[in-house]
This record gives sequence, structure tokens and C-alpha cells, in this order.
Amino acid sequence: MYKRMKKLLLSVVATMLLSAGAVCAKSPAVTGVKVLDGTVSGRVIPKEIYGQFSEHLGSCIYGGLWVGPESEIPNVDGYRLDVLNALKELGVPVLRWPGGCFADDYHWMDGVGPQAQRTRISNNNWGGTLEDNSFGTHEFLGLCERLGCQPYISGNVGSGTVKELAQWVEYMTSDSRSTMADLRRANGREKAWDVKFLGIGNEAWGCGGNMRPEYYSDLFRRYTTYTRDYNSAHGLYKVASGGSGDDYNWTEVCMQNIGGRMNAIAVHYYTVLNWSDKGAATSFGKREYYRTLACALNIEPCLRRHMEIMDKYDPGHKVDLFVDEWGTWWDVEPGTNPGHLFQQCTMRDAMVAALSLNIFHKYTDRIKMANIAQVVNVLQAMVLTRGDRMVLTPTYYVFKMYRPHQDAEFIPVEYGTSVLNSNDVGEVPSLSVTASRKDGAVTVSLVNPSYDKPESVRLDFESLGIKKGSVVRAEILASSSDIHDVNDFDCEPKVVTRDFDRVNVKDGGLEFEMPAASIVTITVK
Ligand code: AHR
Repeated sequence: MYKRMKKLLLSVVATMLLSAGAVCAKSPAVTGVKVLDGTVSGRVIPKEIYGQFSEHLGSCIYGGLWVGPESEIPNVDGYRLDVLNALKELGVPVLRWPGGCFADDYHWMDGVGPQAQRTRISNNNWGGTLEDNSFGTHEFLGLCERLGCQPYISGNVGSGTVKELAQWVEYMTSDSRSTMADLRRANGREKAWDVKFLGIGNEAWGCGGNMRPEYYSDLFRRYTTYTRDYNSAHGLYKVASGGSGDDYNWTEVCMQNIGGRMNAIAVHYYTVLNWSDKGAATSFGKREYYRTLACALNIEPCLRRHMEIMDKYDPGHKVDLFVDEWGTWWDVEPGTNPGHLFQQCTMRDAMVAALSLNIFHKYTDRIKMANIAQVVNVLQAMVLTRGDRMVLTPTYYVFKMYRPHQDAEFIPVEYGTSVLNSNDVGEVPSLSVTASRKDGAVTVSLVNPSYDKPESVRLDFESLGIKKGSVVRAEILASSSDIHDVNDFDCEPKVVTRDFDRVNVKDGGLEFEMPAASIVTITVK
């Protein structure tokens, strides 16, 4: 009896471990990663996964992206030159604007015409700051043209009208002789802009009107009827405001009531452990570090659940899923305006970025866009500015290292991981890997999430015969001395990408050791 029970117990444990994909013995000294580059997945990682978000919030727009043509800070037609150039390096594919919560308080007519005559309002969502509307439609769309990115307009549903949004679309995209198109011409822009993405409201469940999904979905149907497509090249692509994080009912109701009338539904997922006490960006111990990573990784089951609901109503994948706000959210830096959401960035944030991007890559049959919040000076920003100075954050470097994955063909990867850390928020695996192929080259990005331990990796390719000279580029991102390092205004940057010269070609594969809390990207041909 005892023997039978023991056998049963062992087989249950074995099944549990196998189904969890866990490595039951102690972690192998070297983690083997096999890149299945012989596979034709045919699935492209849309570049829009690398989207950015800009809101009239703190110094994201004013002081960050825009200083005005009269500023002493070097600028081109009012756009900050250093920031512009830094963002060009990222190949920003799409930029969402003007919010966020601000979008449902934004009346676009306030922001067109001679700048001195524009309406001044109080930015009630974000610290009551005076908003002089000097950055409006022309300035935003001009910025997108300079960056070579697609604009993603977030329309006002909460406090606007159908007519107002319909006219905005006409103003931006119609080449007719209508009053709206002529007003645009009178304001200095002859040709219609190429605007594809239109958000119908933002966080309609909260700052966007505190609606219920039933009411919002009816409103969506109404707004979408009158926001017309003036650009037959690609049509107007309409995005519904989705639920917050795990609000699956919101997705369910929208899929049921809106269905194929929307092109996408956009959920928001922030990495926050406790909304009433978010903690400092720069002071954390091992426990908080792993809890944060687990929280970020929990986006995967969350998105899967949203996608399961979508599959039920839309098995043909006509409706896309966007994650049009994501990233870390900490307490503001001491001494800064609490309404301006200015935070620093460490390797912990870089880890969240890389782990999230690796997850998005896996689900691009449904997830077609993601916009990290936000591009400059707000939350998990790419760039921070103070006066005429600018620093690039560790997150910036992740986006730069990952650039080869934009519009590349997704390649599956096989590797075994162990559970590095298990805590009350979730589990953190010992490694996360993603790979893609573009222009005949294969790029592999690897994340060692360990707080304090290196990870030895052997990388094998299914088809590529690796020899000396196969590695086109190898880069690493890690803190130079301490995981809490930041890139600050008063000192040399401490967290930057460096050439990773410790990659050894051995037996037709690559072997290397990743330091603790590091991200490596290797491109081979
Ligand atoms: O990104 C900051 C805010 O977070 C956005 O304005 C809002 O949509 C979300 O709650």
C-alpha cells in the first residue's frame, strides 16, 4: 500500500513538473538555448510593438519634446534637437498622443491657429499646470513626420462630442475643399496628413468618463459611424478603449457589443506592486526587485485571458489587441511635482522592458501594437531632460538593442528554465529569450533576470553553421557597478550598452556568461 502510494505521488509530482516545463534537478551549469532558425514562422513582429506614448503631462511635451522656436535650447522649429536625434536612433514606429487622461479633456480646436491666440487651460489631470496649447495638431503631426513615425491620435470621448472628433479627423485627413480641410490650409498645411490610428477615447472606465462597458460600447458604435475615412490607402483604423489590466469583463462586453466594428481593443497594464505606495524607482532590495519582475511577467497570463475572450468572438483574428500603455510606475523623484510623474530608471526597469517585449513577441498573431508609457520625462521614459541637459535611460538602450526585431520574422526558441524566484506576486524564470530574422541575419535577445548571479549560456542554431566571423554584433546592457545605478544629469552615464566581447565560438555554437541582471543581444549571419 505504502509502495503504491509512493509511486503514485512520484508520478503526480513528475507530471506537475513536466507540465510546468520546469527543470526538476538542480539548475544546469550551462543553459542550452536552441534557436529554431530553420523554421519558417511567417509571423512578423510588427514594428508597432515598439510604439511610444506622449501625453500633455509634466514635461513630456513642454520642455521634453517641444521647447518652442524661441528657446535657447537647441531646436529645430521648436522641437528639441537632442531628444529628436535620440528618438530617431530608436526608429520609433508610432507615437500616441495627446493622452492618456488628457485626451478626454482635450479639445483640438484649442490647439490650432496662431499660437499666441490659442486657448489656455488648466491641465486638471496632471497637477493643474497651465496648458497654453502651443503644441497642438500641427506640432504633433510635424513631430511624427520628423521622426518618420505613424501618429496614433487618441480622441476625446469623455468630454467631447461626436461632431468634434469627426471634424478633427476631417481636418487632419481630408484633401477636399470642405471647411475643415480649408481651415487646415489656412493654418499652414496644404496636404492632408497620413493618420491611420484613431483611439476612440482612453480608459473610458476611469478618467475617460467613468463609464460601464455596455455604455462605452454603444458610444464606440456611435463615434465610429461618424469618424470617416478620407484616406482610402489604408483606411482609418479605430481602436476601442479596453479594460485596465485584468478587467476581462470589459473585453467580453466590447467583443460582444462592438465586435468587428473596431479594428483593435487596447488594454493598459502597468507594473505597480501597490497603487497607494508605489515605492521609489531607485531604492529596492532583492525582494522588491523580484516582486516587480513577477508583476511585469504577470502581463502574460493577463493578455492570454484577454486573447482567449477575443478568440471566442473573433476566431478569424479580425480585431487586434493593443497594449497602448505599459511600463513601470514609481513614486515621483523627490522634489518633483507629484502630478508630473517624473521617475528615474534603473536596470530593474530595463528588465521589465525586455521581459515585456519578449512576451509581446510571442503573441503577435493578436498583439499588433504596444506603447510604453511614456516617451520623455514621464514614467518609464526613454529620455529624461533637465533644462538643456538630456540623459538616455536604461530602457532607451533596451529599445535600441531590440530595434533589429522590428518587422522581423519571429523565430521560435527552445530552452529550459528553472524558477529563479518565487514570491507572493508570481515566479521569475532563470532566463528569457527571443529571436527573429531579418535581411538574412538572426538576432537573439537574452535576459538574465537574476539579481546577483551570472548565467552561463550555450546558443545553438538549428540551421546556421556558426563559425568565426558569424557574429555580426553582440551588445550587453548591465549596470557598471550597482543594480541601482541610473544615468543622471550630473555624471557620466552608468548604464549603457557596450560591445559584448565575451562570446566564444565553440563546436558550431556560441558560449558566454551573462552577468547578473543583464540583457544581451547577438546578431549572427
Ligand atoms: O500614463 C499616465 C496615465 O496612466 C494615462 O494618462 C492614463 O491613461 C493612465 O491611467
